[in-house]
Amino acid sequence: MSESLDHVLKLGVNIDHVATLRQARYALLPDAHNSEPSLVAAAHEVEAAGADSITIHLRQDRRHIQDRDVYELRDKIHTKLNLEMGNTREILDIALEVKPHFACLVPENRQEITTEGGLNVAAADASLEETIQALQENGTKVSLFVDPEPEQIAASAALGTDMVELHTGAFANAAVEGGEEEFKLLQAAGIQAHEAGLQVNAGHGITLSNLPMLMHMPYLAELNIGHSLVARGLFCGLSGSVKDMLALMSSYSSVSVS
Ligand code: PXP
Repeated sequence: MSESLDHVLKLGVNIDHVATLRQARYALLPDAHNSEPSLVAAAHEVEAAGADSITIHLRQDRRHIQDRDVYELRDKIHTKLNLEMGNTREILDIALEVKPHFACLVPENRQEITTEGGLNVAAADASLEETIQALQENGTKVSLFVDPEPEQIAASAALGTDMVELHTGAFANAAVEGGEEEFKLLQAAGIQAHEAGLQVNAGHGITLSNLPMLMHMPYLAELNIGHSLVARGLFCGLSGSVKDMLALMSSYSSVSVS
């Protein structure tokens, strides 16, 4: 059973890399009865540790999450499902059938190791708005994964999305040696998005080391974290790594602009 911890800042746990580990052994044996690790078990463990939602990215190349995972997790998780997806007809059709609670539209490039940049909403064609509307009319709240740039936030608000997820990758890379400039961009983007009426989420590259600085960002509603949680889970268990992250996040006060 999931514990309902009443934290202000919510945590979405991305379990793609649990699937990466499974695929490393079982990609060619998808029906093996022992194809561990189980994604449902991982989801239940992080939910019991206090996660507010489970995030998965059904990529076009199906490198980690498989179609059946999406349906199974939608049925069996206790919290909310956030489906990251590229804006393609094939993936949209699956999302419309699965009806995740949330969908986060991301750019997708087959060569990338992980999602590298934000969606270029400012230069998007009409299909992006159509996808947002189709998902919303189907009961899914929509987020756009964007770089912290004024034109991307303005374009996101103009398209009628519910939320933006600010790409924290550049900040995370820079935070090793400071990251003040990148942090200021995130802060400004968060304020702009909030003033435009959008829910402000953030994600990519967040770790226990760079999280304290992000706690000074205003108006944050949710963080989406994957790699660091799964990686630390090897040493302290998924439950332990989620609890450590939530403990740091618990100090968050959304009005503490500094
Ligand atoms: N948010 C989005 C939109 C992503 O694409 C990813 C990576 O899958 C994450 C958050 C999580 O990033 P990380 O695995 O670096 O925590």
